[in-house]
Amino acid sequence: MSETIPYFDMPAQIRSLRKDLDAAIARTLDQGSFCLGPDVVQFEKDFAKYIGAEHCIAFNSGTSALHIAMLLLGVGPGDEVVTTPFTFVATSWAISYCGAKPVYVDIEDGTMNLDPKLIERAITPRTKAILPVHLYGQSFDIDPILDICRRKKIPLVEDAAQAHGATYKGKIVGTFGEMSCYSFYPAKNLGACGEGGALVTNNAPYAARARSLREHGATVRYYHDEIGYNYRMEGIQGATLGVKLKHLPKWTERRRAIAKIYCELLSDTPLQLPHEASYAQSAYHCFVIRHPRRDELKKHLDANGVGSAMHYPVPLHLQKCYASLGYKPGDFPVSEKAARECLSLPVYPELTDRQVQRVIEVIKAFFKK
Ligand SMILES: Cc1ncc(COP(=O)(O)O)c(C=O)c1O
Repeated sequence: MSETIPYFDMPAQIRSLRKDLDAAIARTLDQGSFCLGPDVVQFEKDFAKYIGAEHCIAFNSGTSALHIAMLLLGVGPGDEVVTTPFTFVATSWAISYCGAKPVYVDIEDGTMNLDPKLIERAITPRTKAILPVHLYGQSFDIDPILDICRRKKIPLVEDAAQAHGATYKGKIVGTFGEMSCYSFYPAKNLGACGEGGALVTNNAPYAARARSLREHGATVRYYHDEIGYNYRMEGIQGATLGVKLKHLPKWTERRRAIAKIYCELLSDTPLQLPHEASYAQSAYHCFVIRHPRRDELKKHLDANGVGSAMHYPVPLHLQKCYASLGYKPGDFPVSEKAARECLSLPVYPELTDRQVQRVIEVIKAFFKK
């Protein structure tokens, strides 16, 4: 029996960093700095510098950061936010938590990101923000969307949860909109040893209010200026993220190298391969292939010990939780087709060339059957 290749190999990543992680966690224990604390402050500085932003506010999850981003823009009941139906559900949670309505716009078939050509017709006087996602680590086409934002005076928020270090026209994403939000869920390109997230911005008043909202709506302890949340990052996560951030540029390079091998060696198969747009350098959080026989292909990979995943099998407008929005099958055909065809292959930095070759061989065998 040949070796099993997991979809994501967390133990391999941890093994490679174990000494440094042990030291970082021991430091947190010695300091007793469990909620925020010096390692979180240092990580905020380091991550802001990495993104090229003035402010980074660390959260207990990407979902919390997105929620606060919506609140900072004054999104509330009766408002609308234009967004993509083809993403992880948390993008829409942020809108729903504020009592507002996600207004979906279909994606482009090639990049699977929000289609800028379709945005304008979805805008109404109630539109409070545009919230696209840099899906799978690839920047959405920012300039045409920013152009709409400027003309319509609507703020842009980047959901960069999957796109640490991705670039748009040579610049790291995260400072094109009013704010951007990151997730440090363990399996992300930069993942904590637990949950984590961040809001990044160049806007000082937003940053100050985000810090207060994160901590029970208080800037001075026990004096609560507004209703707030307990959305603080744990000290241990700041410490472990500090260790991992140093490796991120090298990890992103390795992800890109793996993607290049896949693209070259799978080009003679009937698969639709990821399309890297001319403006983007993807961080390849996911390497997503597409085929109408996706379910059979997944079974074949499973049977041969190759892990894979579906991001995402059901677009948000067809999720049970959003039935009340009144969308129906056929409303967003490009997203629906992507949901039927997408399959993510292993693409983590610890994957060896030999493992990549084996994934390719197993896929090729499927098409020879
Ligand atoms: C696109 C997107 N947005 C938001 C989130 C939410 O982040 P978290 O899981 O850290 O709450 C995630 C990740 O899980 C995501 O992939």
